[in-house]
Amino acid sequence: MRSIYFLGLVCLMACQNTPESKTQSIHIIPKPLMLTETSGTYSLDVKSSFTYSAGLESEADYFAALTGFVNAGESDTNSDIHLRLNSSNNAQSTEEYTLKVNEEGIYIDSENNAGVFYGIQSLLQLLPPEIFKDKKLNKSIQIPQLEIVDSPRFAYRGMHLDVSRHYFPASDIKKYIDLLAHHKMNKFHWHLTEDQGWRIEIKKYPKLQEISAFRKETLVGHYNDQPHQFDGKKYGGYYTQDEVRSIVKYATERHITVIPEIELPGHSQAALAAYPELGCTDGPYEVMTKWGVSNEVYCPKEETFQFLENVLLEVMDLFPSQFIHIGGDECPKVRWKESAFCQNLIKKENLKDEHGLQSYFIGRIESFLNTHGRNIIGWDEILEGGLAPNATVMSWRGVAGGIEAAKQKHNVIMTPNSHCYLDYYQSDHEDEPLAIGGFLPLSTVYSYEPIDPELTTEQSKYVLGVQGNVWTEYIPDYKKVEYMAFPRATAIAEIGWSTSKKDYGNFLERLGSFMERMNAMGVNYADHTADVKASTYQDAGLKVNLSSEKMGAVIRYTLDGSMPDVNSTVYEDQIAIDKTVELVARSFVGTEKVGREAKLDVNFHKATAKNISLIHMPAERYSKGGIEAVVNGVKGSDERYGDKEWLGFNGTDFEAIIDFGQSTEVKEIQMRFFKGEGQWIYLPVTMRFSISDHGREYEEIMDTKVGDTDKKVMSSIVRFTNPKYGRYLKIEVPNYGNIPEGKQGGGNPAWLFVDEIVVN
Ligand code: ACM
Repeated sequence: MRSIYFLGLVCLMACQNTPESKTQSIHIIPKPLMLTETSGTYSLDVKSSFTYSAGLESEADYFAALTGFVNAGESDTNSDIHLRLNSSNNAQSTEEYTLKVNEEGIYIDSENNAGVFYGIQSLLQLLPPEIFKDKKLNKSIQIPQLEIVDSPRFAYRGMHLDVSRHYFPASDIKKYIDLLAHHKMNKFHWHLTEDQGWRIEIKKYPKLQEISAFRKETLVGHYNDQPHQFDGKKYGGYYTQDEVRSIVKYATERHITVIPEIELPGHSQAALAAYPELGCTDGPYEVMTKWGVSNEVYCPKEETFQFLENVLLEVMDLFPSQFIHIGGDECPKVRWKESAFCQNLIKKENLKDEHGLQSYFIGRIESFLNTHGRNIIGWDEILEGGLAPNATVMSWRGVAGGIEAAKQKHNVIMTPNSHCYLDYYQSDHEDEPLAIGGFLPLSTVYSYEPIDPELTTEQSKYVLGVQGNVWTEYIPDYKKVEYMAFPRATAIAEIGWSTSKKDYGNFLERLGSFMERMNAMGVNYADHTADVKASTYQDAGLKVNLSSEKMGAVIRYTLDGSMPDVNSTVYEDQIAIDKTVELVARSFVGTEKVGREAKLDVNFHKATAKNISLIHMPAERYSKGGIEAVVNGVKGSDERYGDKEWLGFNGTDFEAIIDFGQSTEVKEIQMRFFKGEGQWIYLPVTMRFSISDHGREYEEIMDTKVGDTDKKVMSSIVRFTNPKYGRYLKIEVPNYGNIPEGKQGGGNPAWLFVDEIVVN
């Protein structure tokens, strides 16, 4: 974590001096492969015109509509701007383009329409941001003379949107597609079916529209809030086939392929509500009203395959995409285990178990789609029980599935929840709107590298690209879609397009200009770049580091809980803390407060800033504050486990030794554990404490139950009537173990989340 923040600091101090500042007005996202600025400019105004090669009519219409430049038709040599299809430039990729600005005019060349389209996107970013609102120039402008030679790193650059948990009108889907196009993304993964709603019209099965598209009510608040409460309001909607066609056409004009996802065999309760005969029980089923994964899944009967094939025939008719996403994730096996039909089928087909049955299911769907000339994408669970022969794997539960699939010579799309889940929190500020959980600030997303070092050069060729996912349990309207997606999707776009040599400071500088364009487009993006981030670390005692990503900002702070003003202490370097304080820090540009403040309540206790060692390390993404975060005097959020105070252990135990440095009296120990069963986070059952003078033999001083709570945080305190003494304190908290079948994430290892260990 600290190194990421240092990047921001380095930028504050040094960015002005990098060669990039020479081309200050040239802020293109994603960063082009090669950009050479020469001297001089070329003028454009409202009367400027453009010409284009035959075959570029669609791109010409798009360009004219966005810029108001006069369309001079094909081959008008006197035009200012020339969009040209040109087969003589030895392109490395069908999406390569060149953009030249010289004293004669502006030239976009590519072998392909897609390349010309991307050249247009770069040119748009050389125009004033207001063009994105006004759709024409309001004044004469000077474009710097330059040459760009550009092509993408990955062929697959995508964004996903879940329209099933919440439904967004077709006009909003088009806005989203427009934004993807401005990012040079080329895939829109449209998540159309779920337990909570079926959103695509299928003519052969009208009950999908009548029944599956609507739920009777929706969960209020977070799934982890107990008891569950509902809003009592019918909710739903679906896209008619005419709307789908119109969206696919709109995307195609923007060089975006729409990949539909029809979930199977799991996430299918909404379909079962309409067609209960496709399930393994007699039902009845209803469209799910709360979040999470249903146990009610398709039963692999002939009737079910008939239904799915008929659905997929209509889907293929609507979507020209080579890929059809068939889901494959999170299919609980409870119903299949209970079903005599499934157990017989396992025997008859000589399958190993229910995972084998899942592979059989996916394999049949794959071969049906292959027969129709299409290929499947499935979430990484399709690896379990054996991959279907031609399947592409979308790696979401971290990167392991992607690595495994590439090793098996299967194509892979990387969308790990460690970096690409844009429904996770992007800020740990308390005002942040409700999100599913996790913590993925822009800097973490930007740091993602899709080619894992474990892959050989040959294996890495199977990595087609990268995608950001926007699941919408906690995103009820399109404005919030934009808030969650951007600018983190902007970072994903750059990961997909630009080289692996990234510079976060430089990205932020260009992002500032991109945000102005998004302002002009009316995009409700999230800007946390000016927020102050506070983090602690140990360096001969407890130290606090403050940072902000805002260029030229000054951070001021107080230690008494008051809001800093222009007269408060300026942060220069680390702050040493040796007592209980309430630190508040805020950024200023001149005298103006910018961004949101950081607050850090430090409760200085006996374990604060003492050495701690762990037997099992926490997951990298849930240990952003380092393992010392559990002895830094700062409590984690009561609502969110993703902040840097919590340590998350996936399936492993928490076993720590705190070294007080000298024999210390221990009267009381407080432990805090997070409970979020919807996110697979389970409270531990027991905790054990031992003490030692020398760190060799330990004397057990307490072995006790953790207890339970209906809140999200369990605080367990042990008090000793006779104080204990020792230099070393050992804490052993076994992980809950595997999640029971039938619960969210059943069969997977539980997460254990631990934060501050307060010793008094
Ligand atoms: C997923 O997030 N269940 C793919």
